[in-house]
Amino acid sequence: MTDIFDTHAHYDDEAFDEDREALLEALPKNGIAKVVNVGSSLEACRKTLALTEKYDYIYGAIGIHPSDSGELDEEAFVWLEQQCQSEKCVAVGEIGLDYYWDEPSREVQQKWFRRQLNLAREVKKPVIIHSREAAKDTADILKEERAEELGGVIHCYSYTKEMAKTFLNMGFYFGIGGVLTFKNAKKLKEAVEYIPLERIVLETDCPYLAPAPNRGKRNSSLNLSFVVSALAEIKGMDEEAVRQAVWKNSHELYRLKPTEE
Ligand code: NI
Repeated sequence: MTDIFDTHAHYDDEAFDEDREALLEALPKNGIAKVVNVGSSLEACRKTLALTEKYDYIYGAIGIHPSDSGELDEEAFVWLEQQCQSEKCVAVGEIGLDYYWDEPSREVQQKWFRRQLNLAREVKKPVIIHSREAAKDTADILKEERAEELGGVIHCYSYTKEMAKTFLNMGFYFGIGGVLTFKNAKKLKEAVEYIPLERIVLETDCPYLAPAPNRGKRNSSLNLSFVVSALAEIKGMDEEAVRQAVWKNSHELYRLKPTEE
């Protein structure tokens, strides 16, 4: 059985403080061969870098989440720029727009979103996009900043099938996780039916968004097999074929060699 690559996790989160080491050490022997831990705040980026140093199968993404973009200033940005160049940093993210929480102001979120897109261009790494209730502005900014030249993933994809077309045309991958197993996820299921399997990668966004039957509990990469099953059902394929496809896609997204362990 092909292993799983968790393309988006937050193991720096305090929800893992009690058992982080034991959990992370158990991943490879449970079929989770690689993980990208994604930075969201300056503190989370620091912790992400420490995790990538400790575990060879953990890679990092460095970036500031829109809801945390209020903590950025020129000095912090210089630091971020330096960290993005570290060897195990495979992407700039998560960056984007969040109009659900709508704080800091949209103007501040957009400013730092653009700045971090430019940073990705400078360090030549793909981007991880967080976009919540901000589909149009996200697509507009990505177009204006020529994000199709950067490559990357729309993490925790939550928009319509029509919107998926826009991001597909820009060459983006789609991060799909626990929500796919929820009974009420009709819109997402339709989008996933439409998106070609070659553009789908698996993610947990843990500790959040645990799939059924563990919905509501703390999530971890160990739950991704439930997402594989849901994806295989929607695509009408067997699970092993889905595992092989998403394994390949994840390495292409982050420009890693599938053979390298
Ligand atoms: Ni996330």
